[in-house]
Amino acid sequence: MEKQHKNLRGSGDEVTIFCPATVANVSCGFDALGFALEGIGDEMVIRKVATLGVKITTITGEDLPMEARNNVAGVAGNAMLEGIQADFGIEIEIHKKIRSGSGIGSSSASAAGVVYGINQLLTTPISHLELTKYAMKGEALASGNEHADNVAPCIYGGMTLITGYNPFRITSLPPMKTIYVGILHPHIKIATKDARTILPKNVPLKDAITQAQRLAGFVASLYEWDKQLFAESIQDVLAEPHRKQLIPHFDAIKTISKQHGCIAFGISGSGPSLFTFAFAKADIDNYLTASKAYYKQQNLEVDTYSSQISSTGCSLVPE
Ligand code: HSE
Repeated sequence: MEKQHKNLRGSGDEVTIFCPATVANVSCGFDALGFALEGIGDEMVIRKVATLGVKITTITGEDLPMEARNNVAGVAGNAMLEGIQADFGIEIEIHKKIRSGSGIGSSSASAAGVVYGINQLLTTPISHLELTKYAMKGEALASGNEHADNVAPCIYGGMTLITGYNPFRITSLPPMKTIYVGILHPHIKIATKDARTILPKNVPLKDAITQAQRLAGFVASLYEWDKQLFAESIQDVLAEPHRKQLIPHFDAIKTISKQHGCIAFGISGSGPSLFTFAFAKADIDNYLTASKAYYKQQNLEVDTYSSQISSTGCSLVPE
């Protein structure tokens, strides 16, 4: 069932929003699966003003376009203001903590944050599904394609599955309490557009069947909480074989994750970040320490995050 926004409002006509980082694809669900990370994300201030349209007043943390039409938050914000025929405009402050081109939903956080923020300023908020449609317009500017596997979990929270684009449908999957997530971000940039260009336009029937079985297995594992099926299902025969060449030492890091008891490993979105799941936090922390040391030996800087799947997506930052 489609969740509705709580009618929360900041004081006056300004809200501050936390927009979480997200992991898309989750290996078995290309352009379909994604989840929100806990404690990693951007902040945005959305201010209602009389002048129609979107004006970006401040960007910190990243060097991004200030013109609304060239900025994912600007595009998503304008799409929503036009869609709801708003009789007001907005000013946006964007405070980036998620690095662009890192693969953990940097552009999506901006696109989702602005539409979530505008919604908080409405007396009659619109649904998460409608918000996601507008956020996808911003995502398309960054990736060249309207896909919702980052923006949906950023808005809904938890693990989301896009079950169709036409008609557009999103399902929130059952929560998992005992899963820990490791994120390893090697300091290289991969543009989603480029990572999509290298994928073949057609896939062999055998691979299509395997991928369908993995995604089905993954979803079934969550409803029955079958840990073994969960672990076995997180594999990717569509994108990973082509994209892993973009990520230095991919196979070595995958081996390290297995050696430390992690039960799944893959590319986060279009990379270069790598996600790992484990049933114990210590396994994640030990894996992150070991992989960081490995990358250091190769003279490559990395950021590491130990996190969990966040049940909440964008949220109001208390005043
Ligand atoms: N599903 C997208 C991709 C996620 O892998 O290209 C990155 O935006």
